[in-house]
Amino acid sequence: MRALETPERTAAAAVERARPPEPNSRARRESAPAAPPYARTRSAPRIPLTFPSSSRARSPLRPDAYDWESHYPEFFAKHRKKSADAEASGDAAAGPYSPPLVRFADVGCGFGGLLVRLSPLFPDDLAVGMEIRDKVSQYVKERCVALRREHPGSYENISCIRTNSMKYLPNFFQKGQLTKLFFLFPDPHFKTANHRRRIIQRSLLSEYAYALAVGGIVYTITDVEELGRWMAEKIEEHPMFERLTEEECKADPVVPLLFTGTEEGQKVERNEGNTFLNVFRRVEGPK
Ligand SMILES: C[S@@+](CC[C@H](N)C(=O)[O-])C[C@H]1O[C@@H](n2cnc3c(N)ncnc32)[C@H](O)[C@@H]1O
Repeated sequence: MRALETPERTAAAAVERARPPEPNSRARRESAPAAPPYARTRSAPRIPLTFPSSSRARSPLRPDAYDWESHYPEFFAKHRKKSADAEASGDAAAGPYSPPLVRFADVGCGFGGLLVRLSPLFPDDLAVGMEIRDKVSQYVKERCVALRREHPGSYENISCIRTNSMKYLPNFFQKGQLTKLFFLFPDPHFKTANHRRRIIQRSLLSEYAYALAVGGIVYTITDVEELGRWMAEKIEEHPMFERLTEEECKADPVVPLLFTGTEEGQKVERNEGNTFLNVFRRVEGPK
């Protein structure tokens, strides 16, 4: 595991370094003499550790029971029209209509920065953020709608759902549906007793492998070295994932977004903190 340098990242870092440094209030609150100013020493506050039981009602019993169309109305309408046109023109390959499926999931999406950057890069793929905090998930949903209003015809493929992904991810995605799964700057849960709350766990990895298509990619990045090691170890140990080579990472247009595409990543970049990237592929059978 190592911090990956890319030309985009180097350029972005140079631009950011030219700006006056901003005070990092979290670092100031938690400053310890040995730690660099950007170091994180405990989890972010105010993140619910339990999820209201009423949320069960909002989680679908099965992925196809969820009202995805309400998240992407324009995208669904265009998809339906395309299918109808294909059928009308006698396109034999058209087949019966099937709704589009979400392909990318950003788990713990925070304020949705990655979704906003993915949208124009992959306009034909639906992407969803999963966020446990009610107000934050509502903000991301509204951010997507506002972007659509501001840029008609764009940002129709991104949205956010409020959920505890550690409990309900399989309720939202069917087998092999996802092609990209993101865990960007997840909460570190520093205390050993809280490691079970980490979003990368062996049992959860089996759920992620189930939802991912063969060849689908899991992207993880953190500024906490120990958590980076933990995620690398857990995913490496899992039989259904293999690490991408450095060349494969460099060739992937998504990788540069991981460093600065999210609000947390931008904070780390401003503070010139280290980042620890681990990218894995879902393999066909146990390795
Ligand atoms: C440190 S923030 C990182 C946010 C974003 N990925 C970024 O890079 O800016 C971690 C986010 O994960 C969310 N989160 C934590 N546990 C979660 C869970 N079980 N399900 C969904 N979201 C969760 C938190 O509310 C928080 O917004």
